[in-house]
Amino acid sequence: MTGQGLFLTFEGIDGSGKSTQARRLAEVLIKLGHEVVLTREPGGSPGAEEIRRLVLEGAPDRWSAETEILLFTAARRDHMERTILPALNAGKIVICDRFADSTRMYQGLSRGDLRDLVDQLHKLMIGREPDITLLIDMDPETGLSRAKGRQGTEERFEDFGPELQRKMRAGFLNLAREFPDRFHVVDGNRDADAVARDVADLVQRELRSMA
Ligand code: ADP
Ligand code: TYD
Repeated sequence: MTGQGLFLTFEGIDGSGKSTQARRLAEVLIKLGHEVVLTREPGGSPGAEEIRRLVLEGAPDRWSAETEILLFTAARRDHMERTILPALNAGKIVICDRFADSTRMYQGLSRGDLRDLVDQLHKLMIGREPDITLLIDMDPETGLSRAKGRQGTEERFEDFGPELQRKMRAGFLNLAREFPDRFHVVDGNRDADAVARDVADLVQRELRSMA
């Protein structure tokens, strides 16, 4: 699975501002004349959006972590086949709100250590990492209160509570150290304009260095 475009992902805890920043970055890049596909996980293709409902709604103990790994990876495979790879092969910039790093964290760390299983299945079924990952780092309590403020039905993971948010924040920062070539940590504890400026500068710098 290869592509010629640029594959960019946003990661971070719930409520850290990923969707806001992904949207704003897309606007900046489109203004600069790039062809951009803005997408998200779980979801991003019709089949994967159906799986999204299965994994994000209902009681926290609805699925075991192992079953979730299979469901998120199935959704991702469909998203890759139908949305991400066609866009990359056409030379576009793909901005994805969450990707495999979220599975490494939420399924790999939340209920015991299943990281190896996540990585094995990823290698077997997905086999591609993003070119650039922007980690929006932020205080877990603030993130949770922002996420809860949205009032939706997709709250299965938020219902695991603040302890999970703290664990995920630390886990994401460790992941940034594990993959220093593609990860960039952005301080999300600021107003959205300041974060967006940092993100846009960073991505434009990367684009120039690739040209
Ligand atoms: P995520 O996709 O990481 O869950 P969102 O972008 O959906 O985060 O943001 C969660 C909530 O917080 C939304 O209501 C959004 O408008 C708000 N928000 C996003 N960024 C900021 C920020 N920098 N400061 C304050 N509120 C923000
Ligand atoms: P998302 O819609 O990005 O939520 P938020 O805007 O609150 O960050 O993702 C929904 C939830 O799905 C989020 O709590 C994290 C979880 N998730 C996983 O557990 N594993 C995964 O592989 C992905 C992509 C998301």
